[in-house]
Amino acid sequence: MQVIALGYVGVETKDTQRWISFAEEILGLRATETQDGTVLLRMDDRVYRIAVHPGNREGLAYLGWELPNAPALEQAAEELAQLGITFERDTDEECARRQVRGLLRFVDPAGSPLELFYGQQFNSVPFLPTRPVSGFVTGQLGIGHVVIRTPEAQAAADFYTNVLGFRISDYFADRFIFLHCNARHHSIAFGSMGPGRGLSHIMLEAKSLDDVGLTYDLVRERQIPIGMELGRHSNDWMYSFYMQSPSGFQIEYGYGGRLVDDATWTVTQLDRPSIWGHQWHELPVQAQA
Ligand SMILES: [Fe+2]
Repeated sequence: MQVIALGYVGVETKDTQRWISFAEEILGLRATETQDGTVLLRMDDRVYRIAVHPGNREGLAYLGWELPNAPALEQAAEELAQLGITFERDTDEECARRQVRGLLRFVDPAGSPLELFYGQQFNSVPFLPTRPVSGFVTGQLGIGHVVIRTPEAQAAADFYTNVLGFRISDYFADRFIFLHCNARHHSIAFGSMGPGRGLSHIMLEAKSLDDVGLTYDLVRERQIPIGMELGRHSNDWMYSFYMQSPSGFQIEYGYGGRLVDDATWTVTQLDRPSIWGHQWHELPVQAQA
């Protein structure tokens, strides 16, 4: 299977208005509300990269993994069928709602609803961040990465490598497995750390280190809970900090991620997750289905 990027992420919230303020005033993402109350967050030349749906809980709704074209989606459907993995093929109406040309849906071993899609709607009006920041590193690298808490980390990683075609990037002790599907060091990681399960964080990569610093100052000024202070990760080399989103999971706001070349990449085990910083603060973990 030929997954090329994390194309979009869907979340569910009880308070879309709080998400609009958070996205536009803090993250620099541009929000548009659709007729059914869904808030689409734009960060580049796609119509959206994060979709915030009104609902009765807080947390991940789905991960949208991008395939390059229609034949790749057909091949993915064949492979899933051969492996006996139950999936649904979305109707034209459902594709229209996601603004894609084709869509398959199933659930991974960590319990995350997945969508394989191709042909997401493009927006040719240039993206302008809503705050004075320089924008986000996306394109072929996708929107960033997600980290999922699960006691089934190994089973989930096996599924992503064996079924979805991901490659292992590295490991941190028995607690984290990092995987890539393009040159971004990881598009997803599974961790068995701490209580709870579900979405731990979404990482967005800014185009400038100053964007991260300016956002950090703003987050402190607005007293938004910080899950991890500024620091630099030891595997993807990201300079980043983590803030709590209105749904409880965190947003890692980063800069300077390294790229992986599969021709030369060697899997390693990390001695620690960060080179410096990333001092951790206890935040209430929200129950996520
Ligand atoms: Fe991260």
